[in-house]
Amino acid sequence: MTATENPVSDEYSLANYANDPERISEYSVWNSDVTSAIHAVEDNADAIFTWDYNKGSRPALDKLYEKAKTSQWNGQTDLDWSIDVDPYAVLTAADPLEVQYFAENPESPLYKFNEKEWAEVGVESFKWSLAQFMHGEQGALICTAKIVETVPWIDAKYYAATQVMDEARHVEVFAQYLDTKMGGIDYPCNTHLGLLLDDIVNDSRWDMTYLGMQIMVEGLALAAFGFMHQTTEEPLLKKLLRYVMADEARHVAFGVITLKEIYQDMTAAELRDRQVFVFEAALRMRDRFMRQEVWERMGVDVKDMVKFQLSMPDELRVFQRMLFSKIVPNCRKLGLLDTGDGWLRDRFTDIGVIEFENWVDTGEEYMELDEVTKDRDAEEAAR
Ligand SMILES: [Fe+2]
Ligand SMILES: [Fe+2]
Repeated sequence: MTATENPVSDEYSLANYANDPERISEYSVWNSDVTSAIHAVEDNADAIFTWDYNKGSRPALDKLYEKAKTSQWNGQTDLDWSIDVDPYAVLTAADPLEVQYFAENPESPLYKFNEKEWAEVGVESFKWSLAQFMHGEQGALICTAKIVETVPWIDAKYYAATQVMDEARHVEVFAQYLDTKMGGIDYPCNTHLGLLLDDIVNDSRWDMTYLGMQIMVEGLALAAFGFMHQTTEEPLLKKLLRYVMADEARHVAFGVITLKEIYQDMTAAELRDRQVFVFEAALRMRDRFMRQEVWERMGVDVKDMVKFQLSMPDELRVFQRMLFSKIVPNCRKLGLLDTGDGWLRDRFTDIGVIEFENWVDTGEEYMELDEVTKDRDAEEAAR
């Protein structure tokens, strides 16, 4: 898809498109055959061999690869699956300000909910979030397998191969947690997330897999995992998230390091395509966090709820904005905010997330998050 065909690139319809409740509340179009256990996506890219086997010609990627080799963990033996989990006891509201607004505003479709219904909203939202994380992890598994095929550099192929293994572990542990601790996997992939994953896999340009997955989907996941890790007291989930986050930080760093090199040589028109892709991905991720499937399950009119969520004052959208706290600084580091007259800076300003531009970018942060493996080594040594 080119910038001119993309609805988001039309400045005049942008606001309407972004905030169209019809579009956002339509959450069942993606996975139309719910009886099917598979979903096929056309992958338009060539598989690339390289005959340049010079390991370490890109030192930053080589360092990341060596780090990844010693940071592997095993979800079956490093996590204590004997811990009992009561879903009602462990939940924390994703965003207390939002819950308060939903509960106390007479316009809210949830205004008359009683305590029991609120407990259900909490459990369902929690299960929904974990299920979307799991589906996103499978997206990452597929995308990094694609990167192994399509990236032309040997150091990047080596590193991406370690990430394929990481993502397999992530899908495995989220699926196991849902299945054995949350009563099963019963939320399908959200439409907005699914459309985004399809677009990323569809695209023939190898850097778009990185941009969509490593920078956008994984950048958001890193922020969301961090938030859940901070707020949950449940020891199994807390440890699981800590392990996953240490891996994710490397993954985002992989994207930042690789794209920084190739964006240096791109034309303004090529970079605009990337900016548009970023903004459309950002919208889809915002849209998915409206958790349409949960409202349907709670018997709430989905479109009314989406309209209500869209009208929420900006200052209350703390959680939603926080999801962009990794994406925006990484886009700045890649030069995507200000290229082409600052098109992306303006869009991020419109959706209220530009405030994060000077936060730490993940090119630097991953070593810190990687401390997890040292913690584990220390634990083992103490045994
Ligand atoms: Fe992952
Ligand atoms: Fe990842």
